[in-house]
Amino acid sequence: MAKKIRRIGVMTSGGDSPGMNAAIRAVVRACAYYNAECVGFYRGFQGMIEGDYLEMNARSVQNIITRGGTILKSARSKEFLTKEGRQKAADNLKRARVDAMILIGGDGTFRGGKIFSEEHHIPIIGVPGTIDNDINGTNYTIGFDTALNTVVEAIDKIRDTASSHNRLFFIEVMGRDAGFIALNSGIGAGAEEILIPEEDLGLDRLLDSLERSRRSGKTSSIVVVSEGDKIGKNVFELAEYVKENLPDYDAKVTVLGHIQRGGSPSCFDRVLASRLCVRAVELLLDGQENLMVGIVNNRMETCSLEQALQSKHEINKDLLRISDILSI
Ligand code: F6P
Repeated sequence: MAKKIRRIGVMTSGGDSPGMNAAIRAVVRACAYYNAECVGFYRGFQGMIEGDYLEMNARSVQNIITRGGTILKSARSKEFLTKEGRQKAADNLKRARVDAMILIGGDGTFRGGKIFSEEHHIPIIGVPGTIDNDINGTNYTIGFDTALNTVVEAIDKIRDTASSHNRLFFIEVMGRDAGFIALNSGIGAGAEEILIPEEDLGLDRLLDSLERSRRSGKTSSIVVVSEGDKIGKNVFELAEYVKENLPDYDAKVTVLGHIQRGGSPSCFDRVLASRLCVRAVELLLDGQENLMVGIVNNRMETCSLEQALQSKHEINKDLLRISDILSI
């Protein structure tokens, strides 16, 4: 029979995302509600390896729902990639009498969690927290919505100056090798073109599209470029290439960078984090393990950590068509 879960550990790992604090709060408070103990590990897997944790109760998480980042800090631990590192982490969990773990992070976090639970038989529930939205088994990851709002706000500002100077702006956004941020923010900000890794527009088509925009009377344009785009040039080379081939364009580049990871989480991300994490605690207390909890068509769903990692969360290609129609 599965061991009764009395004490749950929680950590945040990988790139931080807005809403991770709301997620920690929901884990801690759900544990308190169900009379389970809760401990928070600092810096993801690294804190597990070093035994760096604190006891948490309902009051340890007061007023953090509004804050970006993660009070438990985050890291990408190289040591956890080794068997020895994972053994140290397992020993520390034992010492801290932790029965199960909730891991809040992205695919790297789940990959680590899966191998850890296979080696050490510690029940794990994964909660998808990353601005990239690139996790299978959930329509949304915690932080994606806030990052989109940050990007759209920044692009709106760039559009003001772009239109004042009749300029073309290439704006690089994050997303690693997925185009969710670029595609959604591009539509939200009314971009003329959106370049994402999932769809190779090609340099010729980009030039044609920009030329068409100019001929149709547009005096300024925005091209949103996902950092993982595979057009064959980085965003600076792309701007140079366009300047050489379309000399009428005054092209500039903005790389939005880590601003996309910060800020107070949107209401959507706070609600999402709260729902996912209450469910994560309930799943563990119910004796379930090695699952990821996600949201699909507004319902809480679970899939195995393996499934979450196996296939890729597909982008909605219809959004590209919408973008084409609307950027006429
Ligand atoms: O996974 C989140 C993310 O922000 C990606 O969009 C980006 O490629 C990466 O992390 C950047 O990582 P770091 O903060 O380690 O440079």
